Amino acid sequence: MTEPQAGRVVTLTANPGLDRTLELPGPLEIGGVVRLVGSATEPGGKGVNVARAVAAAGGHVVSVLPTADHDPIVHALLAIGLEIATVPVTSAVRTNYTLAGPDGTTTKLNEPGTALDNMTRTALAAVLHQHAAGARWVVLSGSLPPGTPVDWYAELVRSLRDTGVRVAVDTSEAPLRALLADGPGAAPDLLKPNSEELAQLAGVPEKEVLADPEVALAAVRTLHDRGVAEVLLTLGAAGALLSTADGGLWSARPPRIAVRSTVGAGDCSLAGYLLADLAGAEPPERLRTAVAYGAASASLPGSAVPTPDQVDGSAVLVTPGLPVTAAVPDTTPVPAAGRDIR
Ligand SMILES: Nc1ncnc2c1ncn2[C@@H]1O[C@H](COP(=O)(O)OP(=O)(O)OP(=O)(O)O)[C@@H](O)[C@H]1O
Ligand SMILES: [Mg+2]
Repeated sequence: MTEPQAGRVVTLTANPGLDRTLELPGPLEIGGVVRLVGSATEPGGKGVNVARAVAAAGGHVVSVLPTADHDPIVHALLAIGLEIATVPVTSAVRTNYTLAGPDGTTTKLNEPGTALDNMTRTALAAVLHQHAAGARWVVLSGSLPPGTPVDWYAELVRSLRDTGVRVAVDTSEAPLRALLADGPGAAPDLLKPNSEELAQLAGVPEKEVLADPEVALAAVRTLHDRGVAEVLLTLGAAGALLSTADGGLWSARPPRIAVRSTVGAGDCSLAGYLLADLAGAEPPERLRTAVAYGAASASLPGSAVPTPDQVDGSAVLVTPGLPVTAAVPDTTPVPAAGRDIR
């Protein structure tokens, strides 16, 4: 649905992994032996998901990640045509397992990942800067490897501040809190929290963020106060809200879809937003594309990313201001894993 794009996107996946889906024949019995119905492996990590969705739309994207040259993730990424820039490490990338039951329930088992030493981290930052030069967006997404200083994303945002590239961040917990505790110089141009992450940041219960759009907006405004230029707050089936520091505010509702897997929906929303920006779209259209990409992703199995022909922006309802109805209650059962920050 987007026009041809100009400008490059660079994603950083500091804690990449292979996503291995194991198809269970029935409910999992702890302590038993399971003969799997099938299994599949895909390259994963939130930055990789964003890159896959941008690349699927013909966008120019480079994925920066720490990995050995011979690691299976390198072959998997090259096999799907992604351009990568790697910093060598000695250990194998982690595997994140999804146990998929026949009733659609999924259980996720994520390995912690490998710690990066200072030299590797410095080299990653250098490679990121090298590719960020002249690019439109740098995307810092997902969890940090064990042992990484929690303010590393903040440090990277600061270091990219005057290079002209825009920085988008999608993370949670300690690295997210550190990002916004480090002063306006470390605040990204775009932040993509979900309701849980916004609640963590603003110190309000997630229930209230979902139940009352005014509470959500007040929480979002605290992010602008801390220097974030644009906030794309995604709200699952209820859609998303886009707020800009200059007072712009829009809400968008996705069409009702048959949900197959919400894994990676947030990553695809972010990719949709960036793609629309690369195509020169104004904020409401960027929001529309983000929500359309999220919905398309949720309608596809596993962490599959949509191609532009699977994305229907015209089915998304965009309105100025706050949504007329609250984000809850959505009683539709969603057969998906719990929140996954990978
Ligand atoms: N059940 C659903 N029906 C329609 N659209 C959905 C549904 N769930 C998610 N989406 C779409 O995906 C977008 C992102 O979803 P969500 O807010 O759950 O992201 P997230 O929690 O960051 O996900 P993740 O980090 O696991 O990728 C929503 O704004 C919406 O457009
Ligand atoms: Mg998310």
